[in-house]
Order: sequence, then C-alpha cells, then structure tokens
Amino acid sequence: MTRHSGDESSKAAAEIETLRRDIRHHNHRYYVLDDPEISDAEWDRLLLRLRALEAAHPELVTPDSPTQRVGAAPAEEFAEIRHRLPMLSLDNAFSDEDVVGFDRRARERLGRETQFEYSAEPKLDGLAIAVTYENGVLVRAATRGDGTTGEDVTANVRTIASLPLRLSGDAPPLLEARGEVFMPIAGFERMNAEAARRGDKVFVNPRNAAAGSLRQLDPRITASRPLDLFFYALGVVEGARLPKRHSEVLQRLRHWGLRVCPEARVVSGVSGCLDYYANIGARRAQLPYQIDGVVYKIDDLDAQRELGFVSRAPRWAVAHKFPADEALTVLKDVEFQVGRTGALTPVARLEPVFVGGVTVSNATLHNMDEIVRKDVHVGDTVVVRRAGDVIPEVARVLPERRPVGARVPQMPMQCPVCGSSVERDVDAAVARCTGGYRCSAQRKERLRHFASRRALDIEGLGEKLVDQLVEAALVEWPSDLFGLSAERLAALERMGQKSAENLIGSIERSKETSLARFLYALGIREVGEATAAALARHFGDVDALASADLERVQQVPDVGPVVAARVVEFFADPDNRREIERLRTMGVHWASAAPSSGEQPFAGLTFVITGSLESMGRDEAEDALRALGAKAVGSVSRKTSYLIAGAEAGSKLRKAEELGVPVLDEQALLAMLKTKRPPG
Ligand code: IVH
Repeated sequence: MTRHSGDESSKAAAEIETLRRDIRHHNHRYYVLDDPEISDAEWDRLLLRLRALEAAHPELVTPDSPTQRVGAAPAEEFAEIRHRLPMLSLDNAFSDEDVVGFDRRARERLGRETQFEYSAEPKLDGLAIAVTYENGVLVRAATRGDGTTGEDVTANVRTIASLPLRLSGDAPPLLEARGEVFMPIAGFERMNAEAARRGDKVFVNPRNAAAGSLRQLDPRITASRPLDLFFYALGVVEGARLPKRHSEVLQRLRHWGLRVCPEARVVSGVSGCLDYYANIGARRAQLPYQIDGVVYKIDDLDAQRELGFVSRAPRWAVAHKFPADEALTVLKDVEFQVGRTGALTPVARLEPVFVGGVTVSNATLHNMDEIVRKDVHVGDTVVVRRAGDVIPEVARVLPERRPVGARVPQMPMQCPVCGSSVERDVDAAVARCTGGYRCSAQRKERLRHFASRRALDIEGLGEKLVDQLVEAALVEWPSDLFGLSAERLAALERMGQKSAENLIGSIERSKETSLARFLYALGIREVGEATAAALARHFGDVDALASADLERVQQVPDVGPVVAARVVEFFADPDNRREIERLRTMGVHWASAAPSSGEQPFAGLTFVITGSLESMGRDEAEDALRALGAKAVGSVSRKTSYLIAGAEAGSKLRKAEELGVPVLDEQALLAMLKTKRPPG
C-alpha cells in the first residue's frame, strides 16, 4: 500500500467529499427532476476521478459512496426481514361502478357530503420494495414477501442507478420509503434481444424480468439489468413531521432524491378519477414502463387514518385495473389471408375470448417462420395478446396442454381464394399467390390501397364496400371506380341514395391528386410513400418514369437495385400500362411538377413527424417538407435528421431521444417551411 502524507490525504479527502456531493446532486437532477445540468460524459468524468482517488486512498471509501453500488459478494440465500409496518395490498376495481361504490363507502363511513380529493397514480407492474435510510444513508432494502416478512435484497437494490445511496436535503434519522421496482420496456426489449442472440432464455414480460433480476444471488448480475424504481408511500419514519396529504408525501420523497412517477396527479371525486383512468389508458402503450391499472388514494392523510384497513387492504385506496391484455384460448384453425401483393399471411381462428376490452376471434401469426419459432399447432391452447390498439396476436403456446394429434399448419400449394399456384419468394420467407389481378383477394386489397387516405384518399370507400363492389363485379380495376354511377351504387345492399351520391362525390374529388400520391396508389411492390415521392420528384411525370430503364431508375436518391427492378417490372406489364392510361382518360390528373430542377434546400434530410400538430395535418406537413426536397418517413432510426414532435408525442419521441436525433417542435417546423431553410 502506498503511504500518503497527512496533508495529501486530507486534500484527497476534501476532493472526494466534493466529488460525492456533486455526483449526488447531478443524479438528483437527472433521475428525479429529469433536468440534467451536465452531459453524460461530464458525469462519467466525475465518477472516474472519484474512482481514481478512492483507489489511491482505500481508507477513505465509505459504503454510501456513489462508487460502491456493487459491493457484496454473491450470497448463499436471502436473509429474512420482518416489516415493522406490514406491507399491504390493494382491493381491485374492474369497472366504473366498482369505483363509484368504493368512493361511496368511504364517504358514508366518514359521513362526508363533499367530494374527496384523490391522488391518482399509475399502478406499476413490478414488485413492491421497502428501502430504509438511517441518517440519510441507505441501509436496507426488502421485498414485500407475504406482507409481514420479506427478503433482504439490499445488495441488489443498491445497484439500481437511479436510487440514491444517500438522501439529499434534510433527511430524518429513520426513513422507510416504499415503492415499486420495475424494468422499463425499452431495457426489457434490449435485454431479451441480447439473450435471444446468445441463445439464452428470454423473459416473458418486464414484470418477471424485474422479479428475476432482483432475486439474483449475485448482485453483479442485477447491476447489469436495466432496473428502475418509483416510490409511492412511506413506511416507518422517525424524527420528521409528516405532511397532511399524500400528494405532499410524494413531493417530500422527491425532495429527498427518491424517484416518484411523473404521472401522479391530484384529482377531484369519482369523475376526476375516471377521467384520469381514461387519459392514462389512452397513453398506456406509449408509457416507457408497463402498468396494469391506476391507483386512487384519498389524499387527506387524516381521512386515511380514520378509515383504516380491512384485512390486508386499506379502505382509503383502490386499484382500478385495465382489462387484461393477455388471455388463454384455443386455436381452432389457421387460415391464410391474401394481401395486396399476393403474400399469404397465416391468421389464427380462435375460440372467442375477451382480452384488452374486446372479444377477439382472429389473431395474426405474422408468417410461417413465426409459426415454427413459436411451435404453433392447431388445437393448441394459446396466449392471445392485445396491447393498446395493436392487432391481436398469438403471443405463445402452451405445449403442455397440446392434445394428441394436433397438427402443424402448412402453407397451401394453391391460393385459398383463386386457386392459382403459390410460390415462395426466392430469398424471402414469404409465399405468394401468383394470380395477380385474377385473384379477387388481391383485387380487393389493391382497391383498398388505391382508395386509402395517403393514396387517392377516396372518403367513404371502406373495407365492406370494396368487398361488395368486387363481389358484384362492378369494379375490377381501380379505373372502374370512375365509371360508377350513383344509381348503380344505390342498388347495392346497405347503400342508400344519399351515401351513393356522397361516394360519387368523393370519387370525383379524388381525381385531382399529386404525382407522388398517384404513384403510391398504383401499389408497385416495394414502393412506399417516400419512394413514390422521390420518383415523382425525379421524373416529374409518369411517361418519363414508365419508359425509364433500370439504370435511370436507380439514379433516384435512395432507390436501390431491388426497388428499381420492381418499378421497371411494373411498367413493363401491358396490363399496368393500360390501367394507367385508363385512369388518365377517366380524368385522374395532377399539377405537373418540374423534375428536380426545383428548389431543393432540404435534399438529403430525413424527417419523422409524430404527435398531433395544431396548424396542419401530418400528411400536409410531410408534403410540404417533401416539396422542399426532404424525405418524410414513418419511423425513427439513426438516419433520421430531425424528429418533429407535436402534442402527445410518444414512443417515437423516446426513440429519437435515445438515438440522439434532434427534436423540433411545431414552431420550428413552421419557421423552417416559411424560410425554406433547414435548422442549424
Ligand atoms: S400503494 C396500502 N401505489 O400494487 C397501499 N401500490 O396490489 C400499498 N403497486 O403491493 C400500495 N403501483 O406492489 C400503491 N402507485 C402504486 C402502486 C402500487 C403498483 C403495487 C404494489 C402493491 C400492489 C397492491
């Protein structure tokens, strides 16, 4: 060991103290206030310097130093910890009426006429934890266990980066804070992707992942897991005057440097609770962590004390659960749906089951590889998931419940709709019907695409109507739409004279479009909106594009050989050329755009727009950006130049922040469009 002069040692001690204070301060800014003052790199530098000083002066290391997160060696087992105050559970409410009943009982008990104020919070889907600080220093962390006795997980909880090892502010001599440990969804997905790559076991959901991570005997493993936590209550507290309201408790917890869920709000009465439930429910899929409901707690702590408990749950709080988004049912059959380009997608036909608030009888199985990967058999008991507004899917199967003779679904050799042969793409996992326009399923899907909002935008031409038109042989090609009459339409089932006229009106209006929309509407394989816009900009009119060879099409920015081949192939087909001609004869037209000689100040920039804009629609904003030469695409990646975030931006905003993509608001967008100058 090196020897140090007393002078040097006390200088080091002083610097160590300053560094620790600074790091704690910056942790608080970052994790609790969500408002960092310094960059990650600067923070790293402070920690490195502290590590170096402590390495040179091991006698100065203390357990509450920010360097001491992974301290203990692997344990044999977890010690038991008895909770001085029991850790309770909550009663559940599954409907609005349940909440009304809960509120009424509480008011009757206290003889109250007026509304309660409630503290409303998300019900985090993790596991409960009690963390004890003595004189501001973390000394203990325990799981809930059976509510009376939990397990000592101190060594593991210490490794959670957002948890302070020492409290800030005027911490009381004894403070037990209670909250929920969870794994943020992004971290969960990253961890599972890595596990899958290594061929390791993946976790079923973030809750199990959090529980599994916290119950590791080796804290180094826990340290490598992306855990986080929010606090929502106090346990034993000595030597501090407590506030009068729960919402003030939350503020106090924050003040001490403990993280509190930023979605917590004080609301008034049952109606305030139900509004909060609806609001959080609508944003649930965008939250960075999993929740399974919301919790309402009477905000007044005196009222809480008066109401007390029944068995293990308080009378002053209730958990209002979201409808379960996973359910078990039986897979009755697998059928194959034919898409716009002929691709066959396996669809699960299920015994109807109530999940995520609706009855589900069909769910997607994505593709054959998924069926193999998930080991799906017809007859299996399966877990169906419906999260938010996404299409229900078969999440996994329960092979242990498989009946004898259950069969593996097979890709058919013939198209189930038109009987044409099915071919596998050479390089892809996709099987396709080769019927093209002869296949009524493909015809329907192409018409739907042609009429869709971002293509020709024919309002009122919905799914069912397309089915009817094709089945009645009124429409085969998109151009047939423009020959329809109101009388013809009105003769269809469920179609009145008025709606027929309205539809004719919107078909008429759709004739005026843009070249980009027109090209997109044609449904050329591999040509999405962004590519259609690039082609339109480059060629300026259809004839130039139609007569271009592979080489010329590849000159369009971002068009590679595969896409170029699809484009050339499409225009080489005489049926397609005839259809384009017919569409033009029927009056479909667009303002001719000069090919790329126009002003292109945004060339080379890629934008993503998310959330809702006040001054214009998202499509309109994208068109305006494209007119200046920019690309506007739907998802954020490292290649995104800017994200424009409107109100209620969600997962894309998070992704952009994660990837370090610059984020602009609507004001910045408007300024940019006005000055025609990109930012920066
Ligand atoms: S308060 C006496 N608030 O739900 C009340 N619990 O079903 C104690 N939970 O064990 C709990 N989010 O693990 C409360 N915002 C929240 C919560 C929450 C999740 C969990 C907690 C508790 C369980 C009760």
